[in-house]
Amino acid sequence: MIALENVIKYFHRGSINEVLALNGVNLRVARGDFITVIGSNGAGKSTLLNGLAGSFPIDRGRIGIDEQDVSGWAEHRRARFISRVFQDPLLGTCGSLSIEQNLALALRRGRPHGLGLGVKGRDRALFREQLSQLGLGLEDRLRDKAGLLSGGQRQALTMLMATLVRPEILLLDEHTAALDPKTAQQILELTERLVREQQLTTLMVTHNMKQALRLGNRLVMMHQGQVILDVGGEQKQKLSVEDLLERFYTVRGDEFSPDRMLLV
Ligand SMILES: Nc1ncnc2c1ncn2[C@@H]1O[C@H](COP(=O)(O)OP(=O)(O)O)[C@@H](O)[C@H]1O
Ligand SMILES: [Mg+2]
Repeated sequence: MIALENVIKYFHRGSINEVLALNGVNLRVARGDFITVIGSNGAGKSTLLNGLAGSFPIDRGRIGIDEQDVSGWAEHRRARFISRVFQDPLLGTCGSLSIEQNLALALRRGRPHGLGLGVKGRDRALFREQLSQLGLGLEDRLRDKAGLLSGGQRQALTMLMATLVRPEILLLDEHTAALDPKTAQQILELTERLVREQQLTTLMVTHNMKQALRLGNRLVMMHQGQVILDVGGEQKQKLSVEDLLERFYTVRGDEFSPDRMLLV
């Protein structure tokens, strides 16, 4: 469904700050794949997701989605079928809008018309029903501003917004990393449920190896802008944190540092 072929991405090309962030990435993602992506800081994980979403043009290679070459497509065009959730809970919601206004915006994703913020009664019933499934009591706070919510509540709302209209592709970039462990766990469970129920094709970046091993049907490890490990199915189920660490040590060179890779 998604095919990245020899994708190369530089930042600040030609200057002394030149970074080769993606160094010939090849990755094929099948419909319904749930891929966890790990790798040390600066490995190119976010750049991979950003490149897929069209945040910037790539320098070489090809990005195909459903046989179409989308390499030249603008971000907003890809946003019709790609949803994203970032680490910062403030990024996915508009704090000055109410919960229902935020959801109304999410409902309009991919639709060409109607930029107003009016909320129809029929939609409100849907929002209430969806929010009640979060178990956070937000269904009784439809008119509260999103800015009043806690980080975890806001990230839960963001997850709901990202999936309210089923996306073809869901991109999660360390979306639980800024939350306390209990809240992070809740958001993970919500993620698992939404991905399972809607059978979403998902790429989830995490720095938590246990999480990466437990979730999804495939695991990809990146290092210096390349995919250095890609395992699925039974092979993934057999992997341990020790195996992953060993892989890191094998490729580390001298500059390796485990930085934010969590071992818990
Ligand atoms: N917008 C950008 N401008 C300049 N350099 C960037 C930008 N985004 C990422 N980089 C650089 O590209 C490399 C890969 O970054 P990134 O994809 O964010 O890594 P990861 O998400 O794996 O930690 C890093 O060296 C980073 O500093
Ligand atoms: Mg990142």
